[in-house]
Amino acid sequence: MIPTLAWTPDGVRFIDQTKLPLEESYVLASTYEQVADVIVTMVVRGAPAIGVSAAYGVALGVRGTTAKTAEEFAPEFERICARLAGTRPTAVNLFWAIDRMKGLFANLLDSGATLDQIKDRILAEAHAMYAEDIAACKAMGAFGGALLPQAGGVLTHCNAGALATCGYGTALGVIRSAVEQGKQIQVFADETRPFLQGARLTAWELMADHIPTTVICDNMAASIMRAGRIQAVVVGADRIAANGDVANKIGTYNVAILAHEHGIPFYVAAPWSTIDLATATGEGIPIEERPHVEVTHHGGKQLTPNGVGICNPAFDVTPAKYVTAIITERGVLRAPYDEALKAIEKTAK
Ligand code: MRU
Repeated sequence: MIPTLAWTPDGVRFIDQTKLPLEESYVLASTYEQVADVIVTMVVRGAPAIGVSAAYGVALGVRGTTAKTAEEFAPEFERICARLAGTRPTAVNLFWAIDRMKGLFANLLDSGATLDQIKDRILAEAHAMYAEDIAACKAMGAFGGALLPQAGGVLTHCNAGALATCGYGTALGVIRSAVEQGKQIQVFADETRPFLQGARLTAWELMADHIPTTVICDNMAASIMRAGRIQAVVVGADRIAANGDVANKIGTYNVAILAHEHGIPFYVAAPWSTIDLATATGEGIPIEERPHVEVTHHGGKQLTPNGVGICNPAFDVTPAKYVTAIITERGVLRAPYDEALKAIEKTAK
């Protein structure tokens, strides 16, 4: 199994995703500040992985306190949560995880729990989120794998795999499951400029699983679709609004329009922790602007003339009308998504 993040007695161990695929090295975060740093620097990235990392960050923050009582610790708990919440704005899984920890902490305070009990319960909750994430990926895989063709090309954008989750992956979980069902899938991985999650990470983890994979530059998708080599698209998501609009890695919107134009199904695989029913449409989703050096430089080399204008939004929003289905661990949703999401929310309560 790909060791995206793992709890150890010394802290959380992350595979360094900035170094893959050329170097497999690890970073140990033993404080919540260090967890915040690995999220900001994208040592760990991908919506579900960010959420669970933040949960472990909270656990490290509680473990590291010098407060003597739960009441004394309460304002520090708020600061820990705020630091972790300030790392990346788009993936709602981050806020989902922190809110879940805040709710648990409030309940424990109300019930008179000691600080030691709180430390144990918060860590246990982070472990539960970790296990739930893998289970959700497996469930999405089973639902989504059935939607893929018996044989054919499947295009994916960015990395929505084991590296973006606690294991197995969302979009790549769907592909893995289809392959496990005996389907002959040829993956086309968009390189995903500028951070190259597709070329570096998706290609690396699919090759480790011996799943046939071809990396293409982002601007090649249209002609490859037109050539009839893509039978389905499956991507992950960072946040899905109540109307089904999908925020995902920049360039996903392009792929969705191309898929629509070529009559190719466009599937989004995402766990319930990625659904944000409090945000009505994609218009309300905050889009992270990343450092411009990611565009101006590559491998330490400058690509662009000094002083040229640069923009580097890390995500875009695909309107719900381009989404053929949303694959969640609770089932496969079809338009109209506002109704489908509300209905599935009710069934889970
Ligand atoms: O900037 P990143 O690498 O964190 O962006 C990741 C994505 O956009 C993924 O597609 C998304 O988080 C889904 S991961 C299961």
